[in-house]
Amino acid sequence: MTTMTAEATAEAVGLDAVTKTYGAVRALDGVTWTFRRGGFTAVMGPSGSGKSTFLHCASGLDRTSGGTVRIGGVDIGGLSEAKRTRLRRERIGFVFQAFNLIPSMDVEQNITLPLRLGGAEPDPARLEEIVRRVGLADRLRHRPSELSGGQQQRAALARALITRPEVVFADEPTGALDPRTARDVLRMLREAVDLTGQTVVLVTHDPMAAVWADSVLFLSRGRIVDELASPTASAVLSRWETL
Ligand SMILES: Nc1ncnc2c1ncn2[C@@H]1O[C@H](COP(=O)(O)OP(=O)(O)O)[C@@H](O)[C@H]1O
Ligand SMILES: [Mg+2]
Repeated sequence: MTTMTAEATAEAVGLDAVTKTYGAVRALDGVTWTFRRGGFTAVMGPSGSGKSTFLHCASGLDRTSGGTVRIGGVDIGGLSEAKRTRLRRERIGFVFQAFNLIPSMDVEQNITLPLRLGGAEPDPARLEEIVRRVGLADRLRHRPSELSGGQQQRAALARALITRPEVVFADEPTGALDPRTARDVLRMLREAVDLTGQTVVLVTHDPMAAVWADSVLFLSRGRIVDELASPTASAVLSRWETL
């Protein structure tokens, strides 16, 4: 009993035999994995291997076709749509390749949106801290269209972190960024793990991004085919070439 409790608290997100089909396409083909709390995991694989589907299922954005997903020990398959939405809003942060900011809102409104959707007033000290961390203190009144891609992604990252989520899921967050701003975003994800003990799951096809993680999962045709701990760029590349 004691062991089970310890395991349950060490797990941020758990998947058991998860499948996802789209018509005849088996996008996820029986995925079992545990993301431990305070870990930084990269998920790599060729285009179409199921990375985004994996992230959507693991985060509760999408329902699975089979199997179980647990977030913070809660089996999300058994939750109503409303409860799943609330759990996502309270415990999960998302960052996407296309930033997904609301064009009509300024940076501050975008960043505080998850709080306001949950009916909470943004804590000024918290907002200031997060804005400082992503380096956007002098851009709060700008609209997304007035920002560079790197600034937009840093705003999206602040929006993902403002609720202090237990888990941050990022789907190719550096895919549209130049190498230097990509590094800024990866450093901030790394800090979310190292400074505040959050859990990060990063989908990427870039070996230079994957090396920021503690370990790399390789997906092929909807299955996890390998894990590489303490990844180096050359180790990631050589594993990549044989996928
Ligand atoms: N909404 C969808 N409808 C139909 N097929 C989909 C949908 N989303 C993904 N797929 C298919 O599932 C497979 C995995 O896609 P995806 O998870 O997007 O891969 P990746 O992110 O690794 O490029 C692909 O064959 C893709 O065409
Ligand atoms: Mg994808």
